[in-house]
Parts: sequence; structure tokens; C-alpha cells
Amino acid sequence: MKHILVLGATSAIAQAFCRARATPGARFWLMGRNEARLRIVADDLMARGAAAADVRAIEPGNFSSLKTAVEEGFRVNGRFDLFLAAQGSLPSQDLCEGDPGLLSKFFQASAVDIMQAALLVADKFEHQGDGACVILGSVAGDRGRRTNYVYGAAKSALETFCEGLRQRLEPASPVILVKPGPVDTPMTAHLQKNALFSSPEKVAVAIMSAIQRRAAVVYAPFYWRWIMMLIKILPRRLVKRLRA
Ligand SMILES: NC(=O)c1ccc[n+]([C@@H]2O[C@H](COP(=O)([O-])OP(=O)(O)OC[C@H]3O[C@@H](n4cnc5c(N)ncnc54)[C@H](OP(=O)(O)O)[C@@H]3O)[C@@H](O)[C@H]2O)c1
Repeated sequence: MKHILVLGATSAIAQAFCRARATPGARFWLMGRNEARLRIVADDLMARGAAAADVRAIEPGNFSSLKTAVEEGFRVNGRFDLFLAAQGSLPSQDLCEGDPGLLSKFFQASAVDIMQAALLVADKFEHQGDGACVILGSVAGDRGRRTNYVYGAAKSALETFCEGLRQRLEPASPVILVKPGPVDTPMTAHLQKNALFSSPEKVAVAIMSAIQRRAAVVYAPFYWRWIMMLIKILPRRLVKRLRA
């Protein structure tokens, strides 16, 4: 797992994963919207021993800048062993309800860009005959909740997308949807922390383990699988009354 392509490379979870993979010979192609922040990530990976860490800034919502960056990455690196999609944001449910126009930008960054990048990568992986796709979903995609159903809707869209892409690419290329519970990162900086919060490093370990096992869907930490299993079997009538 030496050649790694990342969308949303400034994400705290992506950084924790890449730091753990920054071994001699590792080559990173880091994509995101902010070149200055991407360069800080790249410099850190180089300082840790990576052989290469290139950055490409992508204009949000601009498919041709995404396509150019992905294609250039394959041209320069020759191949990738892994595509990691970590881009995404947690919009305020209240603001979305007040101004539904906000949904376009949110869905573009948190679902559309990721699907577009994954489709570009899928063609290349089919050509290579290998390569793993890892997409960061969320437990929020398992069930709609009063407090975050816009965010959850983007994550459940990614789940359906991954299910189909998996049918297309496997067995040559695993398609792995990682569903973290709450993680202490800039995305959740405004939320009060509790015992359910995990760390980016723990999620990074779960991602690596999922790749090694060629898992399809993993919860991070693992116990979210059991929590969400219970939540998913709650009758709709009861869930309607929870409003949380
Ligand atoms: N933290 C959690 O509790 C949690 C739980 C479940 C799933 N996840 C998922 O894990 C992934 C990584 O999140 P994180 O927790 O590591 O958060 P993070 O550190 O805030 O990273 C978010 C990433 O998405 C990028 N991004 C945000 N809005 C964007 C936009 N409109 N256009 C383009 N790029 C945008 C950010 O770029 P900039 O650096 O330029 O802002 C950054 O690279 C996300 O998909 C998130 O939904 C997180």
C-alpha cells in the first residue's frame, strides 16, 4: 500500500491515516480545496519519510479540475494502490432548513465530488486490475435523525453508491465504506464531547484493518456496528417520536 490518492487530504482522519502510511517508498497525491493547507500536510508526510507527496488544489464543484488532478496523479505516479475519499462537512440542520439553497454546495462537496472522483478512479483501477477504494461514510447515514438528516442523506447516498461500485469493481478492487461514529476533528469542533467520541488515529487504524481484510462496510470504532444494529431495528413509529 505505497501509492495513495486522497480527496479531502486535509481532513484530520485522512491525515492520521496518511501519517501512519508515510513509510519509505510511500507516494501521496493529495487533493483538496486549499493548496496552502495541503502543502502543510505534504511537508509533514515528507518529514516522516514519504518518498513523494504532491498536492493538487481542486476548485470546489468544478469537475474538470477534479478530473485533471486525478488523471495527472495516475500519469505522474503510474498507479495507485488506494483511493481514500475523506472530503465532507457537517452542515447545520437549522441553517439548511432555513435556507435549502445551501444543500447544493453541501451535496456537491460531501457526495457528488466523491462519487465523481471514485468513478474516475474506478476506470483506472479496472485498467490496473487492482487498487482499493475507501470512502468515509458515517453512522448518520444509517437512519434519518431530526438533528442531522441532511448530513445523513449525503452519507446514505454514498452507501448506495458504494454498494453498486463494489459490484462493478470486486473482486479485483475492494470498495470499502467506513462509517465512523463521532470523531474529535475540526468538523465536530463546535460539538460538546462525550464518551462516544473517538480519535482520528483510531479511525485510521480501523481503515487500515478494513483494507487488509477487504471488508465491505466497517464501523469505527467497531462497537458502532452493534449500536447501529439496535437503532436500525427500532420501529419507524418509535423513531418518529424520538426527534433527536
Ligand atoms: N468527525 C466526525 O465525527 C465524523 C464522523 C463520521 C464521518 N466523518 C467523515 O469523515 C470525513 C473526514 O472528516 P473529518 O472528521 O476528518 O473532518 P475535517 O478534519 O473537518 O475534514 C473535512 C475535509 O473535507 C474538506 N471539505 C469540507 N467542506 C468542503 C467543501 N465545501 N469543499 C471541498 N472540501 C471540503 C475539508 O477541507 P479544508 O481543510 O479545506 O476545510 C477537509 O479536507 C468526512 O467525510 C466526514 O463526514 C466524520
